[in-house]
Amino acid sequence: MTYEKAQAVLKQHKQSHLLRFWDRLDAEARAALLRQVAALDFASIGRMQAMLQSPQAAAAATGQISPARVVELDAAARTRAVARGEEELRAGRVGVVLVAGGQGSRLGFEGPKGAYPIGPISQAVLFHFHVRKVLALGRRHGVTIPLYIMVSDANHATTRACFEAHNWFGMPPADVFFFEQGMWPALDAQGQIILDAPGHLFQSPDGHGGTLSALDASGALADMSKRRLQTIFYFQVDNPMVEVADPTFLGVHLLEQAEISLKVCAKRDPQEGLGVVVERDGRCAMVEYSELTNEQKNQRTADGELYFKYGSVAIHVFSFAFLQQEARAALPLHVAHKKVPVCQDDGKTVTPSKPNGYKFEKFIFDVLPDAKKVVNLAFDRCEEFSPVKNATGDDSPDTTRRDLSAKWARWLKAVGVAVPDDAQGYPLVPVEIDPCFALDPADLVVRLRQRPDVSQPVLLAEK
Ligand code: UTP
Repeated sequence: MTYEKAQAVLKQHKQSHLLRFWDRLDAEARAALLRQVAALDFASIGRMQAMLQSPQAAAAATGQISPARVVELDAAARTRAVARGEEELRAGRVGVVLVAGGQGSRLGFEGPKGAYPIGPISQAVLFHFHVRKVLALGRRHGVTIPLYIMVSDANHATTRACFEAHNWFGMPPADVFFFEQGMWPALDAQGQIILDAPGHLFQSPDGHGGTLSALDASGALADMSKRRLQTIFYFQVDNPMVEVADPTFLGVHLLEQAEISLKVCAKRDPQEGLGVVVERDGRCAMVEYSELTNEQKNQRTADGELYFKYGSVAIHVFSFAFLQQEARAALPLHVAHKKVPVCQDDGKTVTPSKPNGYKFEKFIFDVLPDAKKVVNLAFDRCEEFSPVKNATGDDSPDTTRRDLSAKWARWLKAVGVAVPDDAQGYPLVPVEIDPCFALDPADLVVRLRQRPDVSQPVLLAEK
């Protein structure tokens, strides 16, 4: 884009202030600024401005809500689902999308969250567990399972460097596809785009809902199509307990001919910050934790269960056709009032003490009302969910390592190894199992040549 073109476009959209420091910029800074201007998505920015002008349009949807149907599998249904899911895997029709473009601000870790060391013994990083599950599952079924990883402009290079430093965790690089999500500017109360330096627009990732348009724009959807994928498993980088492309889940989704499926688990307590899947006007929708009233959060059924009992943990299966359809849909915007660094007239950057700017995001679950069929599958959270969100306390590295160790200790117990527990029921020594050593207790039976010494930390890894 030339300066003249940028001038014209910005004038048309009443954003000419973005060029006000032009005379002070060197050639490199000018080129960088023009690149940012060229990438601005004015259709979305127009929607953001409209939202600021009429906040009532942005208010949470209203209407009667009730909990959506949740599937709990008995043994026979589970067997049928596993068989269907395995058939899909063996046919090579399954791909995996991992979203890792977030900023991880609560954790406060320098670097992409996927590079956070989480192995209870090895300190292996989050990506290690995710990628090696994909690899091991592909090996088990004799197929390639491609892995599509969403990154952002801010962490693309460091994420790729992490993969290179770890030799791609054993995965062939040709089957790992990084794609960048969109970045959106922040607006001030007048709808003006905020500059955070004389030649630079403040920008942040457009939310996990950005996965859909980014899959399309990056060519990842085209790659999926070329590989003839039909069933796409989706999950987040912060949960190393996830059963990646779990055949039971794939199978239920396929047998029920769903367009999107979600794994849901019983909330830890009424205040836990998970969204709940509801029915509203005959459609499924996600209601965020912050949108439920206190009364709704605490509402109980006659048998004492929470009425909105199940929370979503962002583990999904999409049918490929639905993913393609939604890639072009305009998802609703979510706005947050935040402190955004601003470039003052003297060219200095100041971070205000109070929120001054509006940041916008899209959320993946906003596709739900568009789906003709949605399946919510209940799972046992102690087996599959313990995310790294905070630096300390609940959902922090300490609780995740503890839960990982407990899960792997249960696998050892399932194959007859007596692992001593502490008073809270957690293993006395840490246990860690590389997914390429064993994906489940059935693998352990085959792989375990000798009983491990459980008086020491137990690390079982592929040689
Ligand atoms: P979170 O909502 O927990 O955000 O993301 P976060 O950025 O990881 O952490 P905080 O809120 O700043 O502390 C849930 C998942 O969605 C991905 C994250 O990488 C994580 O896997 N995500 C989130 C994206 O890929 N892009 C985004 O813009 C936001």
